[in-house]
Amino acid sequence: MNPRLALLHDYPFQRLARLFADSEPNRDKSPIAWSIGEPKHASPQIVRDAIRDNLDELSTYPSTKGLAELRRAIANWLTQRFQLTAETIDPERHILPVNGTREALFSIAQTVAADDSSKQPVVIMPNPFYQIYEGAALLAGAEPYYLNTTADTGYRMDFSDIPEDILKRTRLVYVCSPGNPAGAIMGHEQYHQLLELAEKYDFVIASDECYSEIYFNEDKPPVGLLQVANDLGIKEYQRCLVFHSLSKRSNLPGLRSGFVAGDGELMKAYMQYRTYHGATLSNMAQRASIVAWEDEDHVRENRELYRKKFDAVLEILSQVMQVNKPDAAFYLWAHVNINDKEFARGLYENENVAVLPGSYLSRESGGINPGTGHVRMALVAPLDECVDAAKRIRDFIER
Ligand SMILES: Cc1ncc(COP(=O)(O)O)c(C=O)c1O
Repeated sequence: MNPRLALLHDYPFQRLARLFADSEPNRDKSPIAWSIGEPKHASPQIVRDAIRDNLDELSTYPSTKGLAELRRAIANWLTQRFQLTAETIDPERHILPVNGTREALFSIAQTVAADDSSKQPVVIMPNPFYQIYEGAALLAGAEPYYLNTTADTGYRMDFSDIPEDILKRTRLVYVCSPGNPAGAIMGHEQYHQLLELAEKYDFVIASDECYSEIYFNEDKPPVGLLQVANDLGIKEYQRCLVFHSLSKRSNLPGLRSGFVAGDGELMKAYMQYRTYHGATLSNMAQRASIVAWEDEDHVRENRELYRKKFDAVLEILSQVMQVNKPDAAFYLWAHVNINDKEFARGLYENENVAVLPGSYLSRESGGINPGTGHVRMALVAPLDECVDAAKRIRDFIER
């Protein structure tokens, strides 16, 4: 057995299943799952049609590099969305399709942060965080460094807080903007600060931007890492990698389609790694993905659905709990006045609504667990179900 497997923590949903194992939900009420961030809006008809039209592709092996047409569609999307006018994105060198960002966020650590026995590499990540970052670091033989994000930091990473001896060993920094769970967006200045550190200490930035298309103000889409690198004139997007997905943007979590883009040298090494790792994206899925990246109408409609849900739910929940509208993404990260696990279990038993205890998404670091006392609520269910869940939570708190 690989001894590093023993270092892995249980996944948050395994812990939730254990928490609920000896509980009885209130069967008089229909179950509502606000625990898992699985988009529930309808997948776009144009994408479904494209899958049907490309069934013949099932008889071909896809290549690791992916179809040139898909990489071109992605380059166009990136260029327009992030105004990449100075530093051209080259579909040949800067882009690879991936089987959803989850596997890519994992495999990038194996490519750039694996222990080479000289000094233990460090992988920095936000805390709370998407647990793949940690598992990827541990299986690469790296040491995770958890950078707390709290109300005091606006739920953003404060890079000036990282000790120098950690920075010297750092190979990879994961950032997540818009963030899961708090929905905070990193600004231009924060990316700039991180880019300066990346140059000084020679590490790679993996920017998880899978929620970048779920935002509230149509005139103010979240900024991205490549955009800032482009604005700063960083040649070849050195040390920068971004991770994008169709799962949230286009309600296609089952398609398993995303991409990684950035630094040409890193992408060359990553391509070699992926050749052996073997996580290719079927040509059928790639052809459907082209259609999805080339259409913005369905993405705007998707945002409108989330906007309505946030407005309706916050009107109810803000009466009884400390909860703010996030900058973006589709979660509420709320304070609860009792232990977060007790809150989640009580809510499940009384109201049949599942939410995720915040402490399951974070580790103790610097003497605190920044997820404690929070719950994460994913507003993925349809509007009326979300309103129903909010009312049940209000009643539960009031009781
Ligand atoms: C922060 C974050 N990154 C990445 C992913 C993975 O998404 P996918 O593999 O569907 O692209 C998720 C999914 O929930 C997520 O929350």
